[in-house]
Amino acid sequence: MSIIRVHDKEFEPYLTAEEINARIRIIAAQINADYAGKKPLFIAILNGAFMFASDLFKEITIDAEICFIKLASYKGTKSSGHVITAIGLDMDIIGREVIIVEDIVDTGKTLNEFLPQLQHQQPASMSIAALLHKPEATVYPLKIDYLGFTIPNKFVVGYGLDYDGLGRNIRELYRLCEQGN
Ligand code: IMP
Repeated sequence: MSIIRVHDKEFEPYLTAEEINARIRIIAAQINADYAGKKPLFIAILNGAFMFASDLFKEITIDAEICFIKLASYKGTKSSGHVITAIGLDMDIIGREVIIVEDIVDTGKTLNEFLPQLQHQQPASMSIAALLHKPEATVYPLKIDYLGFTIPNKFVVGYGLDYDGLGRNIRELYRLCEQGN
């Protein structure tokens, strides 16, 4: 792995595909154990989580379902500011064991706004699986039940994550070079 260029910026190798997959197998084993005898519903958040969700779900050996949603932010009333809404949630989640699958928790804003909405639909339980977490950037604290990697507050690309639309197809994770910060 060597330095790559995405748009105008340079990125250096950060996590190999093997490191990512080894970690995913550990998370999946935890989920398989925690949800044994249950039939969890994985709700993966597009676009960023598609690769993580795919690799994670392949390691799930218990009965489980998966669906994919997109979160859209629109301008609500003056008091509510921007409101996040789910597009494409066509599953009934009442009484379900829900596992949210997210690529990265950065500020935590997205999930902090969205999770209460899901909670209104009365799932039996709700947990979060995130591949990456940047604790230094998180201003809306969140309990991440299944976490891949804690990473420094640096922009990363690859493995589903993009920089302005590009880089999602890269198998590994790269991070912004120092001089690019
Ligand atoms: P949050 O609401 O600030 O936690 O933002 C989460 C979303 O921002 C993620 O689902 C990503 O789509 C995007 N994001 C945050 N940090 C990065 C990064 O380093 N690279 C690519 N996308 C990121």
